This record gives sequence, structure tokens and C-alpha cells, in this order.
Amino acid sequence: MPENRSADSHLSYLKGYTVGQNHPMSDQAKGVRVPAYEKPAREGQKIVALPDPTTVKLTESDVFRCLDNRISSRVFSGDALTLNELSFLLWATQGIKKTADDERHQHHSVKRTVPSAGSRHPFETYVAAGNVEGLASGIYRYLASANAIVLESAPADLKGKISEGAIGQRFCGAAPVFFLWSVIPYRTVWRYGLPFSVKAITLDGGHIGQNLHVACAALGLGTCMIGAYNQSHMDALFGLDGKEEFAFYMAPVGRID
Ligand SMILES: Cc1cc2nc3c(=O)[nH]c(=O)nc-3n(C[C@H](O)[C@H](O)[C@H](O)COP(=O)(O)O)c2cc1C
Repeated sequence: MPENRSADSHLSYLKGYTVGQNHPMSDQAKGVRVPAYEKPAREGQKIVALPDPTTVKLTESDVFRCLDNRISSRVFSGDALTLNELSFLLWATQGIKKTADDERHQHHSVKRTVPSAGSRHPFETYVAAGNVEGLASGIYRYLASANAIVLESAPADLKGKISEGAIGQRFCGAAPVFFLWSVIPYRTVWRYGLPFSVKAITLDGGHIGQNLHVACAALGLGTCMIGAYNQSHMDALFGLDGKEEFAFYMAPVGRID
């Protein structure tokens, strides 16, 4: 059988729940302190409070129709999104519903609108907002714990840089908002070690994508998950170090006709 048709070492992480619930050699097992579930805002950064996500007006609340209407959209009208819509999309993909003391594992954890292996939630959410009513153009990061966004940077020609980072997929830059989820793998590796964390993180990402799709369908907006991108370009544009935190999954969102 040709090598690329076999479950070689690159694919073996897809097999089974191979290392058991908690890796016996993980940092958690060694008593290392749990990593933070969210990066804090830095001193002096501008924080923008978000509207309550539950106040948004849904155009479609029938779950059957939301799932049936879901498609990947790559043409957007160019009209702005509202801050209410942005707030709802952020909440739908990474919103925190409660924080809880996890007695079984003896640490603090968060419950979000998506599931995550071991409730480790290894992602941070960034939004390149080029056209949101009442919001200055820039790259923001979601502070789910505070229902707010924090301004990370305001690069010139944001649309052009997003399109370039998405290796020429111009609809990415043309959209009024472009979501980028970075991953901080250690949040998951702390408990599960390797290689299982690779599988867990990848599975976790899928839930974000589907929640975004369903939330967009409920608002009558369009989106398309993006896996084709230039890693170093996106890491640099979003201010990520490319080692402990790097770009992982992304999606433009905009109005559709
Ligand atoms: C992990 C992943 C990566 C994707 N990457 C891209 C991409 O870079 N560009 C793009 O146009 N579509 C991308 N898509 C969208 C798929 O092409 C799309 O879901 C597929 O063609 C099925 O169409 P549908 O979503 O309309 O049902 C991606 C989807 C997933 C799940």
C-alpha cells in the first residue's frame, strides 16, 4: 500500500483515546499549576464592552431550518455588522456560561457554549473588525469572562493583509469581520500530554466552526471556515508568538443576499 494511504505516524494520533483520561506523565499529574483559561488584557489596552448576547434579534430560530440553511458563503454584501451581532457570534463560539471548581480534577475550570476535551478550552478568539457599526477598525480579542473585547492592534490596510494571509482568498478580507481562533496547546497538553492533545485540540476546533455556522444561520449571515492560510503571516498579523500560541482556524462573516 502506498505510504500516503496508510495510518503512518502523522495520522496515528487519530486513533483511539490512546493515553487514557489523564496522561500519567502530564504536568497535571506532576502537580504543576493549571494554566489560565484566558489571556488577561494588558495594562493600558482599550477595552470595549459588548452588548448582552441574548438581546440580539434572530432572523431564524427554528433549529431545523438553521441546519438546513447552513452553507459556506464566500460572497458578502459589504454592509456592516452590528455590535449586537458580533457579541452573539463571539458568545456562540466561545462564550463562558459559568466557572466552576472541578473537584474531580481539583482545579478551576470554565464552561463555554462549546464542549472541549477535559474543559481545557485551548483557544483565544481574535476578530479583525473592518466594518462593525460603532467600532473602530482593528484587531480585537474576546474577553469572554467580561463580555468585552480588547483592542490588540490597528494595522493599516487590514483587508489587504487578511486576504494575503488567507493566501489570496479575497472574500476573507472583504468581509466586515474576520474571526481567527488561535490555539494555546499547553492548556490541553497540561492534562493530556502528547499525542492525544493533538486529536483533542483538533476535535475542539470543529465545535467552534459548527457553532459559528449555526449562529450565522440564525442571524441570516454568511460564513465559511478557513483552513488554507499562511501560518507565519497570520501569526505576525495577529501578534502571536507562533510557538506557545499560534493561528489555528478562521472564518469571515458578512451579510449575504
Ligand atoms: C477544516 C475546514 C477548512 C476549510 N478551509 C476552507 C478554505 O480555506 N477556503 C474555503 O473556501 N473553504 C474552506 N472550507 C469550507 C469547505 O470547502 C466547505 O465546508 C465544503 O466545500 C462543503 O460546503 P458547505 O460548507 O457549503 O456544505 C473549509 C472547511 C473546513 C471544515
